[in-house]
Amino acid sequence: MSYPHQITSLDDYKSTYKKSIEDPEGFWASVADNFTWRKKWDSVLNWNFTEPKVEWFKGAKLNISENCLDRHLETRGDQPALLWEANDPEEHHRALTYKKLYEKVCQFAHVLKNNGVQKGDRVCIYMGMIPELPIAVLACARIGAIHSVIFGGFSAQSIADRLIDAQAEYIITCDGAFRGAKDIPLKSVIDDALIGIRFVKKVIVYTRTHTPVSMIKGRDVWWDDEIKKVETLGLHDFEPEEMDAEDPLFILYTSGSTGKPKGVVHTCGGYMVYTNYSFVNVFQYQPGDIHFCTADIGWITGHSYIVYGPLSAGASSLMFEGVPTFPDASRFWKIVDKFKVNILYTAPTALRSLMSYGDAPLQDSDLSSLKVLGTVGEPINEEAWHWYDQKVGKGKCPIVDTWWQTENGGILISNIAGITPARAGWATLPLPGIQPVLVDEKGIEIPYKEGETASGNLCIKFPWPGILRTTYGDHERCRQAYFSAYPGLYFTGDGALRDSEGFYRITGRVDDVLNVSGHRIGTAEVENAINMHAGVIESAVVGYPHDIKGQGIYAFVIYNGREDSDERNRKDILATVTRIIGAIAKPDKIQFVTGLPKTRSGKIMRRILRKIAEGEMKNLGDTSTLLDPGVVEEIKSGKL
Ligand code: WT7
Repeated sequence: MSYPHQITSLDDYKSTYKKSIEDPEGFWASVADNFTWRKKWDSVLNWNFTEPKVEWFKGAKLNISENCLDRHLETRGDQPALLWEANDPEEHHRALTYKKLYEKVCQFAHVLKNNGVQKGDRVCIYMGMIPELPIAVLACARIGAIHSVIFGGFSAQSIADRLIDAQAEYIITCDGAFRGAKDIPLKSVIDDALIGIRFVKKVIVYTRTHTPVSMIKGRDVWWDDEIKKVETLGLHDFEPEEMDAEDPLFILYTSGSTGKPKGVVHTCGGYMVYTNYSFVNVFQYQPGDIHFCTADIGWITGHSYIVYGPLSAGASSLMFEGVPTFPDASRFWKIVDKFKVNILYTAPTALRSLMSYGDAPLQDSDLSSLKVLGTVGEPINEEAWHWYDQKVGKGKCPIVDTWWQTENGGILISNIAGITPARAGWATLPLPGIQPVLVDEKGIEIPYKEGETASGNLCIKFPWPGILRTTYGDHERCRQAYFSAYPGLYFTGDGALRDSEGFYRITGRVDDVLNVSGHRIGTAEVENAINMHAGVIESAVVGYPHDIKGQGIYAFVIYNGREDSDERNRKDILATVTRIIGAIAKPDKIQFVTGLPKTRSGKIMRRILRKIAEGEMKNLGDTSTLLDPGVVEEIKSGKL
C-alpha cells in the first residue's frame, strides 16, 4: 500500500464509505493525520448549511506549499514534480524535480515579497500553461497571498471585472502564450484590462513568446530581472507563512445563472486534504506514475489535479502548453508515448474532437504505458466512452468518470480505478465522506431504496473538506446560489438519475447554465454581452446539443433595423461577445427574430426556445400561457 489512506479493494471501499458516514470527523481526522501541520486542529468540523458556515480543522496551522514541496525533499527530491511539454513539439520539454521546483517557488516567493505582496493580498495570475504558472501559484500559497487564476481565453473586460471584485493589487502574467497555431498577447490584454483601474500596484511579466510589450514605469516589472536580484543575494529558501486551516487559499471565478461570475473561495486545510485524498484514490496513483491532466490551470481541474492534488502526494505531474489537435490530432498520443504516461485525465469534448479524425492519428502510438483513463467536465456519451476504452485504453484501462464542480474542490462522485465498477455514462458511486441525495421538484428527498431507481435534483447533505466556504466579498450570494433552493442541503444545479444499485448518472444542469466544451457559461452572461451591441434590442440564449462541444450556444436576437446584412450583424455581435467575455462564449448560432415568446407577465419562456433550438418543433409542451403564439411560429420557421 503506497498511501495510508488509499482504498485497495471493493470491500475496503464499502467499509471506508460506511465509516466516513457514521463518523465523518474521525474519518477525516485520520486522513488529515498524513500531512505536515505546524499545529494540529482544535476541532475537526463546525458546520451548518443555513448561514452557511463550514470550518474544517479549525485552529490548525499549516502551509500547503510546505506539504507540496518541502516534505518530499528528503524522500523524492530528485524525482520529477512537474513535467512540461511545449506547444511546439520541436521545443525541448522541461522536467523540474521536487528540489528544483522547491527552489523556484522559494525564489519567486521572495520576488513577490520584494514587490510588496503580503499575506491575504489577492494576486491575479493570467498566464499560459508553462511551469511558471504553478510556480506562481505555489509562491502565492507560500507567502499566504490569495491567488486568483484567470483562464488565458478571457477578455480584458472579464479580467477587469474579476480584478475589481477581488480587489487584486498584483498581477502575474506573460508577454504572450502559445496555443496551437495561435500566439495570444496576454500582457496587452492585461494592459487593456487595466485602463481605468488605479489600484493595481505591480504587474510581473514572464517572457515566453517574445511578443513586444509596453511596460508602465513603476508598475510593470520583468520576472527574469526580479529573479536575478534574488539569485544575486543567494536566496534559495523561503520560510513558509503559517496559515490557519481556514485562511483562504484561492479564489476562482465561475459562471452561475445570474449575470455576474462568482468568486468561489477555497481554504488551505480542507482543500489540501480533499484534493490529495481524491487524487490518490480515484486514479489509484502509485509512486513513480506519470499523471497527465490535460486541463488548463485556469480551471479548477488544473488547480486540483495538476497542482495541489498530485504535488501534495509527491506525484509526477505532466502539464501541456498546447491543444490536442496541434500540430495534428496525434499530439496527445505522442505525448503519452514520449513521457510514458500512466494516468490520462481529459474531457469528453477533447475525445469527441479527436474521434472525428478517425483511427489514423492513433496508429503510430504504442500507448502501453497507460493504466488509468479519466474524464471530467460534462456527461460522456457512450460512443466516446467506448472509443476511449478501446482505442486509447485497448480495453485494459479502467475509465473513471469523475463528477464534480468548481465549488467542490475535488471529485465527489466517481468510480475508483480498478476497484469499484465502471459503467459507460455513469459517474457511479460517491467517494467516502460524500452524501449525495436526490430531491424532487418540491424539495422532498427521494430516499434510496435497494432495487429502486429515481431521478431528481442532485444535492449533498453533509460537508466534505473541499466544499467552498463563501463567494468572495458576498456571502449572501453563496447562500442564495447553493443553500437556499433546498434548505439544509448544498444544491449542485445538476439533475441526476440513480439506479437500483445506488449508481449516479449526471444528466446535466437544471439551471440556466450551459456546459460548452466542458466550460461553464451562464446564459445571462452571454445575453448581457449580446445586449451591449448597439443594434440589439433584446436577446435570449439557450443551449442545444452539439456533436463536439456537448452543448452549443444558440442566441435569439431582436435587432433594431436591418440596414446591414444579417451576416455583418452576426459578425459584429460575435466580436462584441468576444470583447466582453472571451471567444469561449461566442454563440454558435444567431437567429434574428422580431419577438421572443413571453408570458403575460413578461418572462421569456426559455423552455420553448430550448425545444426549438434542439429541433424538437412538434413537442413544445404547454404554450397556453404565451402572450403571442404567433411569435413562436415565426421563430420556428426561421430556425437555423
Ligand atoms: C459542472 C461543473 C470540476 C470539473 C470541471 C468542470 C458538469 C462535471 C461531470 C461529469 C457529467 C459533469 C456538471 C457540473 N460536470 N463533471 N463527470 N459528468 N457532468 O467544473 O466548470 O465547475 O462545472 O460540470 O454539470 O455541475 P465546472
